Amino acid sequence: MTATPVRLPISNAAGETVSNMASRPARKMIQIEALERRFPNPNGKGETQVFGDVNFTAHEGEFVCLIGHSGCGKTTLLNILAGLDKPSSGYVFVDGKEVSGPSLDRAVVFQGHALMPWMTAMGNIEFAVKSRWRNWSKAKAIEQCQKYIDMVHLTGSESKKPAQLSGGMKQRVGIARAFSIEPKILLMDEPFSALDALTRGSLQDELVSICQATNQTVFMITHDVDEAILLADRIVLMTNGPRARLCEIVENTLPGDRTRSDMHTHPNYYPMRNHLLEFLVNRSKTFAKEIAADGFDPRNPPVARPQAGAQAATRLSAASDNQSATTEKKAS
Ligand SMILES: Nc1ncnc2c1ncn2[C@@H]1O[C@H](COP(=O)(O)OP(=O)(O)OP(=O)(O)O)[C@@H](O)[C@H]1O
Ligand SMILES: [Mg+2]
Repeated sequence: MTATPVRLPISNAAGETVSNMASRPARKMIQIEALERRFPNPNGKGETQVFGDVNFTAHEGEFVCLIGHSGCGKTTLLNILAGLDKPSSGYVFVDGKEVSGPSLDRAVVFQGHALMPWMTAMGNIEFAVKSRWRNWSKAKAIEQCQKYIDMVHLTGSESKKPAQLSGGMKQRVGIARAFSIEPKILLMDEPFSALDALTRGSLQDELVSICQATNQTVFMITHDVDEAILLADRIVLMTNGPRARLCEIVENTLPGDRTRSDMHTHPNYYPMRNHLLEFLVNRSKTFAKEIAADGFDPRNPPVARPQAGAQAATRLSAASDNQSATTEKKAS
């Protein structure tokens, strides 16, 4: 049985309970600046921009979800963060260092489990651990693997191969493998989308527990609005492609100790949910008109805090968050 995750409720200066993002430490783990990706057109003439002018910063211990319609460039963005793809222009820094290729600092959980079928669950995780810490003894590596196998509740299934595991169990091995190398950031591309609702729910709970235990920074793509509200401190909204834009950052206004079973009873739940659905149904398509009326600074995208009783999402400045890593580098 999976334990219900508990996040500490956080109070602001006025004593009100707010999202656990209020406790974010200042260390910037992900900095994305003026990022653009173009692909050559299939007819060989010219290129199409998938997305452009993407600017975003995430801090250590923060859980960020990215939401946008199919084809807007979410996986492409995640692949660039992972170092598996290169930007056409712009920069990505992880913990202050520019990303130039894949690294064990950044673990990826793919939509499919991406396990090696000839290896056992333990073998798959051990392979990653041995790549990370090459001089570790077999016993030390196994101890590290077992810690994360136990954390995802797979104790007893260590010697099973992927074909002998259920879909949810395979995803758990993928998650254990990603956490076992203690990466600076964890990148997840719709990790639970192929799973049934019950399995998805228990894996979400496990993810929350592990993230709290390890203060893991997570960047996760999802299409599931409730999943984003449960897991994320902030939700990044991307408009439809081509030429998609990161158009808004939504701060989670639910308390940090929310759980799957009680979050829908919080007064801010429906404002959050409606705001995200309104984006997916309407605003993701009509963003160009919205910015023509309102103006838009891609270096400082608007921040929304959907709350009960509020007329509309409040827009706040995110200027301090998006201070350029290149500028900081020059200043130091
Ligand atoms: N290697 C490539 N060459 C050419 N075009 C590509 C390549 N990779 C992705 N694209 C295009 O970039 C766009 C974004 O693709 P991407 O896979 O990032 O979308 P996505 O937002 O992850 O979609 P989904 O929600 O369906 O997973 C699509 O139009 C896709 O065809
Ligand atoms: Mg994708």
